[in-house]
Amino acid sequence: MAAGSHGAGAGGAVALLVVLLALPLMPVDRVAGDDPYRFFTWTVTYGDISPLGAKQQGILINGQFPGPQIEAVTNDNLIINVFNKLNDPFLLSWNGLQQRRNSFEDGVAGTTCPIPPGGNFTYILQAKDQIGTYYYFPSLAFHKAAGGFGGIRVLSRPMIPVPFPPPADDYTVLIGDWYKANHIDLKYTLDSGKDLGFPTDCSSMAAAGTATHSTSNPTYRFRISNVGLATSLNIRFQGHTMELVEVEGSHTMQTTYSSLDVHLGQSYSVLLTADQPAYDYAVVVSTRFTSKIISTTAVLRYSNSAGKAPGALPGGPTIQIDWSLNQARSIRWNLTASGPRPNPQGSYHYGLVTTTRTIRLANSATTINGKQRYAVNGVSYVNPDTPLKIADYYKISGVFSVGTISDAPSGAGSAYLQTSVMGASYRDYVEIVFENSENEVQSWHIDGYAFWVVGMDGGKWSAASRQSYNLRDAVSRYTVQVYPSSWSAIYMPLDNVGMWNVRSENWARQYLGQQFYLRVWTSSTSWRDEYPIPKNALLCGRAAGRRTRPL
Ligand SMILES: *[C@@H]1O[C@H](CO)[C@@H](O)[C@H](O)[C@H]1NC(C)=O
Ligand SMILES: *[C@@H]1O[C@H](CO)[C@@H](O)[C@H](O)[C@H]1NC(C)=O
Repeated sequence: MAAGSHGAGAGGAVALLVVLLALPLMPVDRVAGDDPYRFFTWTVTYGDISPLGAKQQGILINGQFPGPQIEAVTNDNLIINVFNKLNDPFLLSWNGLQQRRNSFEDGVAGTTCPIPPGGNFTYILQAKDQIGTYYYFPSLAFHKAAGGFGGIRVLSRPMIPVPFPPPADDYTVLIGDWYKANHIDLKYTLDSGKDLGFPTDCSSMAAAGTATHSTSNPTYRFRISNVGLATSLNIRFQGHTMELVEVEGSHTMQTTYSSLDVHLGQSYSVLLTADQPAYDYAVVVSTRFTSKIISTTAVLRYSNSAGKAPGALPGGPTIQIDWSLNQARSIRWNLTASGPRPNPQGSYHYGLVTTTRTIRLANSATTINGKQRYAVNGVSYVNPDTPLKIADYYKISGVFSVGTISDAPSGAGSAYLQTSVMGASYRDYVEIVFENSENEVQSWHIDGYAFWVVGMDGGKWSAASRQSYNLRDAVSRYTVQVYPSSWSAIYMPLDNVGMWNVRSENWARQYLGQQFYLRVWTSSTSWRDEYPIPKNALLCGRAAGRRTRPL
């Protein structure tokens, strides 16, 4: 089976991108008594890419678009030396990889100094106690609109049972909307106070490895991530159903779907059995909740394919919110399956722990100084001159203050600009309610954490809404959607000390202020709670010229 490209019309402002990739195994070094190390050297350059058919400037990693995939096993150390050959400061961040005790490595503007043009920085990451599907992406400026992203998969250790038979092959499917404009022009549009505008046309691109199998009806795993900028997407495979097995690091009840909504920043693993007559089947991806639906196709090709599969392309939902809400509620954690450890996922009863704090976060669109901005609880985030985490480490005052965003929406009134940081205590167990009174779907991500999505519904959240929470088998994940005029609630144990980005995955909203940092703090200085600054940390802004640690 192979996947190839199947063109749709090109030439509009936006395209959808579907990329299927097979994975080469990376070399592993074993250090006695330690978790394995995997070493990567990545060079970031500009180069031509043609996701719409026409050439445009893209961001390549080792000459590749999308970038190389990372394959790791739970607890592996990932040592990634990134050389920046752009003429722009650059950082990569790791969507869903938790950087436990180590927010210095998170690679966002609030935690890590940018890699200067011509410079390099070695990330020291660990896939600590994680399994599942993640991706990396460039976090600064509007680089994400030019590529620079790639898949990350963390496999279970050999002794840990996985709740389904090993698939015949494992493919990464990165889907996303795509603007034809250059990322610098998109950034300029946002900087000058305007919106990016809306998808108006589409085309597609796909590439994949091939595989031959002796079994007659092989089952494949597809890891699907929405790496786009602006829209929720729906994916479906002509003539086939998908069995959902994993959501962002949690094994799910294996439910069968004919199509799946994937909101911005989200990742899903599905199993697909190739048990149909040998044809080329369309993989259809289309936008959700948009006034104009744009769609694109890739191809799922059987070996010995007799050509295009007969019949119409599978339709999917378009603007229906209830359909999506019902699907979201049907996604359940498999309590008896193991996660990164052999014990059942449900052995920690998240629903029986009493929450110590409720944080309500409301998004808004606003105008500040005549420019389009977005805000959380009335505060539109602006980056400081020094990463927050580094200012915190050196106790440099004047960069930020804790408590510059409140625990509850500010009510009516306009928003203001601020480097907003919310304080929180290590080991608190928080309930966070995302309240969306806008008519646009939202997607929220929290770095450094996974959380249980205990509830979501239309209307306004109130204390009574808790009666509808799923306190038994909600899925634990790192990105949650909030439907228009709706709320979503999560439970999150604050077990990871650090400075963590809480952000909209809608990239223009994030860029224009719909984000803040959660400072999870302890007075302990033990390395068991938080690692000190890395010895190779780059220092910038008001921390320039300081020493890190003796080598
Ligand atoms: C840059 O790369 C060199 C190896 O080429 C490495 O020794 C050095 O630690 C890297 N710099 C940083 C800041 O990680
Ligand atoms: C849940 O996981 C177990 C493995 O512990 C597996 O046997 C079972 O089939 C899974 N159930 C569903 C509904 O996916």
